[in-house]
Amino acid sequence: MKTLACMAAAATLLALASPASAQFAKPEDAIKYRQSAMFVMGTHFGRIGAMANGKAPYDAKVAETSAAVVADMSKLPWAGFVAGTETGGNTKAKPEIWTEQAKFKENNEKLMAQTPKLAAAAKTGDLAALKIAFSATAEACKACHDDFRNK
Ligand code: HEC
Repeated sequence: MKTLACMAAAATLLALASPASAQFAKPEDAIKYRQSAMFVMGTHFGRIGAMANGKAPYDAKVAETSAAVVADMSKLPWAGFVAGTETGGNTKAKPEIWTEQAKFKENNEKLMAQTPKLAAAAKTGDLAALKIAFSATAEACKACHDDFRNK
């Protein structure tokens, strides 16, 4: 019994210790993963932006659904920025992501702190509140793109 428990504990430790890259079969998959997450997030964020900027009629339900998607998706791209994926595919990632990891992390944490506020604002059904939360979130996107994404 004791040995079994020990082995189970060791297996858990091993699983925790394996590198994030183990989640992806090949580097291109990690790149595709982070780009896809960004793409879905960007699509829904764009829908909110169109309403915030008066380019589409305000639909509180669409805003709420899209903001919830943005909040969920904003947690995902980061796992795709694993070591060994600095180049490859058609990535626009800048090498600074890997040389200034603390700063990159700060940027993605800022976004993850902002998106629940966007979701909360969308829930109120108040367009003015949505506009404010949209521009604050857009700033978080832009700050990171300016420093860490190639044009
Ligand atoms: C912490 C940094 C960071 C933040 C914050 C961030 N992005 Fe990105 N984004 C990137 C990087 C880096 C890429 C390039 C990824 C690649 O090509 O490998 C990217 C790529 C994209 C793409 C292109 C995806 C594709 O199809 O290749 C879109 C769209 C996008 N981001 C939208 C957004 C939106 C919208 C937000 C805010 C809600 C946001 N991003 C916030 C770093 C960030």
